[in-house]
Amino acid sequence: MRTTPALRRLVAQTRVCPADLVLPVFVREGIDAPTPIASMPGVVQHTRDSLRQAAHEATEAGVGGLMLFGVPTPEHKDAEGSWGTRADGILNLALEDLRADLGDATVLMSDLCLDEFTDHGHCGVLDDQGRVDNDATLQRYADMAVVQARAGAHVVGPSGMMDGQVAVVRAALDGAGFQDVGVLAYTAKYASAYYGPFREAVGSSLQGDRKTYQQDPANATESLRELRLDLAEGADLVMVKPALPYLDVLRQVADLADVPVAAYQVSGEYAQIEAAAAQGWLERDRTVLESLTAIRRAGAQVVLTYYAVHAARLLGR
Ligand code: PBG
Repeated sequence: MRTTPALRRLVAQTRVCPADLVLPVFVREGIDAPTPIASMPGVVQHTRDSLRQAAHEATEAGVGGLMLFGVPTPEHKDAEGSWGTRADGILNLALEDLRADLGDATVLMSDLCLDEFTDHGHCGVLDDQGRVDNDATLQRYADMAVVQARAGAHVVGPSGMMDGQVAVVRAALDGAGFQDVGVLAYTAKYASAYYGPFREAVGSSLQGDRKTYQQDPANATESLRELRLDLAEGADLVMVKPALPYLDVLRQVADLADVPVAAYQVSGEYAQIEAAAAQGWLERDRTVLESLTAIRRAGAQVVLTYYAVHAARLLGR
């Protein structure tokens, strides 16, 4: 059953289709040309205009959706992340642009988190001792969900790992008449070194780490508890992140979830492949497709990947 390409194709258990892939994109306020991200060769911080072009191309390539991250100017960062909940904040303006251009032709997802908008770089607001205040943050997320839905998000992606975030976001959306806006829960999100390049991509202000709210890489069982809670709170999709170093967690989550499961091939996973490929140490395209196949095989129906458009074109050939 391995002798010819046609036989192998016939018996392949796992396929990757462009429609399974979601492209994460960065839109930065206050720049007039796309800006390269050094640690993610080939990925840029977009202007509003270049993002519109990129979103159009991704949709043409058959990619399943886009996940938007906003990068405000330093003047638009403060302790509460106020510009995350303003209609004229960069992320919400970009959502409006893309929804106006593309309507329902693709799935527009938005990162629902404060870290890009806070001057301290944490995913929530802080208490008087400088610790992330879970419950005060939930109110900010509720507001953010409604603003993003109003701006045109089909799906919001609460990524801050606050306890109770899915329930609060669901209730806020329903209360504002956005029953149809979905919630992609970052269910198992680990405090990972693999997010390193992303911090450059969003111009993160973070000092320290996120170990008090993101999960310990040593633990798998607690992901099942996170899953149970997210499903009970109304998650429409659940996600594991990072992807390749956590395929065991992904498999366990996929075995139990009764909603679609996503995985996020994060910035560091991308950077590893790019760095090795640039040295001629790995074949880029084969490695990209093999990594995406492995993530799908481990149980992800949807994969967020910076390679979404590139892979879609490879697959389309
Ligand atoms: C936080 C967020 C992060 C990523 C997505 N959302 C960074 C973090 O948790 O520190 C990382 C994505 C990547 O590395 O590609 N809003």
